[in-house]
Amino acid sequence: MRDVRAVVVYESMYGNTHLVADAVAEGLRSVDGVDAEAVAVAQASADVLTGADMVVVGGPTHVHGMSRPSTRHAAAEDAQKAERDLELEPDAEGDGLREWFDSVGPLPALTAAFDTRLDAPVVITGRASKGIAKRLRRHGSDVLDEPRSFLVTKDNHLEEHEVEEARSWGRRLGVAATGGHVGDAVPEMEAAARQELEYQGDETDEG
Ligand SMILES: Cc1cc2nc3c(=O)[nH]c(=O)nc-3n(C[C@H](O)[C@H](O)[C@H](O)COP(=O)(O)O)c2cc1C
Repeated sequence: MRDVRAVVVYESMYGNTHLVADAVAEGLRSVDGVDAEAVAVAQASADVLTGADMVVVGGPTHVHGMSRPSTRHAAAEDAQKAERDLELEPDAEGDGLREWFDSVGPLPALTAAFDTRLDAPVVITGRASKGIAKRLRRHGSDVLDEPRSFLVTKDNHLEEHEVEEARSWGRRLGVAATGGHVGDAVPEMEAAARQELEYQGDETDEG
């Protein structure tokens, strides 16, 4: 077993992906020998990544993939409608993951990708994590596990149990990063199997 320092880089407009990122970091830290912190994409500078052995990257699904300036702007406008009951994250209108990937230097060898998206079949929703995993591979990293989605309601609030799911996924990644197998710490095998089945029907090839 080896010591691992992990950084969970997240983009979030309304706080859901932020909550998931915090839970993934908590799950990672629950593994002996793993230190982990969640960092907003706006703060994820080269300094923060220096010395990291692992980076887990997640963002919201916008128009089937990673956000763009136009979709972040639309999301911010939506949050201003009183009936929405949504609060914008501090860096919501700054750069997103696409811009971060374009400017970030080398990444650690160990990586994983996640997103948040609506609770509906992936063929309808798309998923940002697929594009994230592709970018990670383009940076020369190994992606440790299948890209993973955490689900939100149509009102943009995390579905029940998604925080626990994120914590156990983080733990699985921590076990894998310290030398175990991703499947070694899987209390939620059913959820993982369900997602893998969905991926088989996912034709979106967004980059
Ligand atoms: C402009 C916009 C486009 C969206 N497009 C999609 C989509 O194509 N598929 C989907 O599942 N969810 C879509 N959503 C819902 C987001 O995935 C959801 O708001 C996000 O997961 C919430 O995460 P956050 O709170 O971290 O921003 C969209 C949201 C916005 C604001």
